[in-house]
Amino acid sequence: MTLLPPTYDIGKSYEENFSAGPVYASAIPPMRAARKTWSFLGFELSSPIGVPAGPLLNAAYVELYARLGWDVPVYKTVRSVARASHPAPNCLFIATDMLAEADAHTTRTVAPAPQSVGGLTITNSFGMPSMAPDDWQADVRRASGAMRPGQLMVVSVVGTPGADGRDLKDDFAHTAALAKAAGARVIEANFSCPNVASAEGELFRDAQTSAAIVRNIKERIGDTPLIIKIGALPEDHLAAVIEACLPFIDGVAAINTVPLSIVDAAGNQALPGNGRLKSGVCGAAIAGVASEMTGRLLAIRDRLKATFAVVSVGGVMTEDDVDHRLAMGADLVMSATAAMWDPLLASRWKTRQG
Ligand SMILES: Cc1cc2nc3c(=O)[nH]c(=O)nc-3n(C[C@H](O)[C@H](O)[C@H](O)COP(=O)(O)O)c2cc1C
Repeated sequence: MTLLPPTYDIGKSYEENFSAGPVYASAIPPMRAARKTWSFLGFELSSPIGVPAGPLLNAAYVELYARLGWDVPVYKTVRSVARASHPAPNCLFIATDMLAEADAHTTRTVAPAPQSVGGLTITNSFGMPSMAPDDWQADVRRASGAMRPGQLMVVSVVGTPGADGRDLKDDFAHTAALAKAAGARVIEANFSCPNVASAEGELFRDAQTSAAIVRNIKERIGDTPLIIKIGALPEDHLAAVIEACLPFIDGVAAINTVPLSIVDAAGNQALPGNGRLKSGVCGAAIAGVASEMTGRLLAIRDRLKATFAVVSVGGVMTEDDVDHRLAMGADLVMSATAAMWDPLLASRWKTRQG
């Protein structure tokens, strides 16, 4: 399969994609009636396939992907204050050399566009831009309205230290409460973003701080299910984070992008601007790290006799990858990079189910 243009035009700015996107010129395949349903956090779903926080910038993107059969779209991470995106370019191609966890923070060079989705690895660097709350709340309501029976939209939130005088913990809870007020049925707290230099970037490494934040969020959102989005961690460290957060969470989504230093062919920082040498890598090259984390989360869940949902994210490029993560025991499987370049993946997977 040759690589088609993505729904997010990587040659344009975030703002242009936000107002003019998504790019999609093909037909919408007919929606098939689900032959079996899937249960997730008490909701009945037509399939266990979703798009994680990122590629769905606003209601127009959420609506397109819902129509294309991605039954669990995640609304891109929002903040309690408006924040501009890092300047373009925001996505660059990287060679698909399979990464190991130990490769985090090493250096990779940009590469030409691959020929197929199987070789698709990118770095993405946006810095978690956000509309002002009034605007994203109205847009979240619009996006929720696009959900059909068997679909569930999740809203991703992040705290912004110092926003209107709130500390990180309080701002996380405040933002989650804003999402709930906008009708979010499930909230995801983003504890991992390699593309911001501030404290919210690697929270998932700190069990006590993560637990304090989810406790605070839970106090504000009550019975609305709460997922944490985290990056890769070794088994013991991961277990400590999960155990600390367990009383307050309903699910864990992993992984976010893997942080690497990205340089051009001459060895210079590839993305323009301060603090952008380090950038998150996603797509095919992170499949190994991501599926190991899924295995680790499932093993920890068994050992703790816990019931939190496991959302497998990272390097899911094909229908076989979806099946593989489901066979491991993941409750949901999500694709960001492949979903951008191959928006028909979910529909093909469903067709294959018969
Ligand atoms: C364009 C783009 C934007 C992203 N923005 C976010 C974000 O705002 N919040 C977040 O939690 N993850 C974000 N991510 C990370 C994805 O949710 C996902 O964890 C990561 O890309 C790994 O999945 P993949 O290999 O299928 O791309 C973004 C990813 C991409 C490709």
